[in-house]
Amino acid sequence: MKGIVLAGGAGARLYPITHAVSKQLLPVGGKPMIYYPLSILMLADVRDVLVITTPHDLPRFRTLLGDGSRLGMNISYAEQPRPAGIAEALLIGAGHVGTDTVALILGDNIFHGPRFSDVLARESQDVKGCVLFGYPVHDPQRYGVGEADGDGRLVSIEEKPARPRSNRAITGLYFYDDRAVDIAKDITPSARGELEITDVNRFYVEQGEARLVDLGRGFAWLDTGTPESLLQASQYVGTLEERQGCRIACIEEIALRMGFIDAEACHRLGEEAGGSSYGQYVMSIAKEMKV
Ligand code: TTP
Repeated sequence: MKGIVLAGGAGARLYPITHAVSKQLLPVGGKPMIYYPLSILMLADVRDVLVITTPHDLPRFRTLLGDGSRLGMNISYAEQPRPAGIAEALLIGAGHVGTDTVALILGDNIFHGPRFSDVLARESQDVKGCVLFGYPVHDPQRYGVGEADGDGRLVSIEEKPARPRSNRAITGLYFYDDRAVDIAKDITPSARGELEITDVNRFYVEQGEARLVDLGRGFAWLDTGTPESLLQASQYVGTLEERQGCRIACIEEIALRMGFIDAEACHRLGEEAGGSSYGQYVMSIAKEMKV
């Protein structure tokens, strides 16, 4: 499976912070936001990742993540000149995806919850059709909303419905089989000139090949789009990390646990982290995993 992190967009609601810095590079719980979606792809055992961002921000992401080899990964980059829709990521990433299955994740989506690694490992195997992840929200009118039958098969999907048929928001993580790029090529832009991911998803729904995995109320799917929600996300991560002594979305730790790198390589990454508490943590995990 190939991975795509879509990390473009204007970040208009976060101005002036995002005037000079990409939203997905802003700190959340002591690390750049993009670490969170990247972690999700890694936990799904995806090693080949394309980061799509604006021409202006691309060099910064490359500075941060490089070619991925330090993490035992292969990370490449592509530009999205303007936010012309989430489905455009499938067109920009067509060459990267090839004939493989693909996991697409939005660069500002933060997921955290019990046994999510197991869910990701299971759902990323042999994807047929598409797999979407639904989260209960109190204001479904603001989201793409999915309605599933008793077997988890999606029966309808609506974008920002006035009268939602369920309270399940479709989150920014999408697993597709090898048809997604061709489907995206066939959709027409919306009135706003955007290629809507809902139209790709709706194709699968109409074929009866879309599943909704229910993330449930014990799970956290956090928003980072406004100054308030960005602060709340940081506080959530900080509270859990402080209480448990574990870091969320520490990409070096995940690379080690997934077997992308060995304990020595992980330890070196910690050493390179300039004496920060983050680096100390990475080294402690490497030592722990060595024994
Ligand atoms: P949005 O929240 O719709 O947009 P934004 O992040 O630019 O924020 P604002 O509304 O404040 O301007 O996008 C959700 C995520 O998807 C975000 O990580 C940006 C990304 N995105 C793109 O990279 N390209 C796109 O064409 C779209 C629509 C979104």
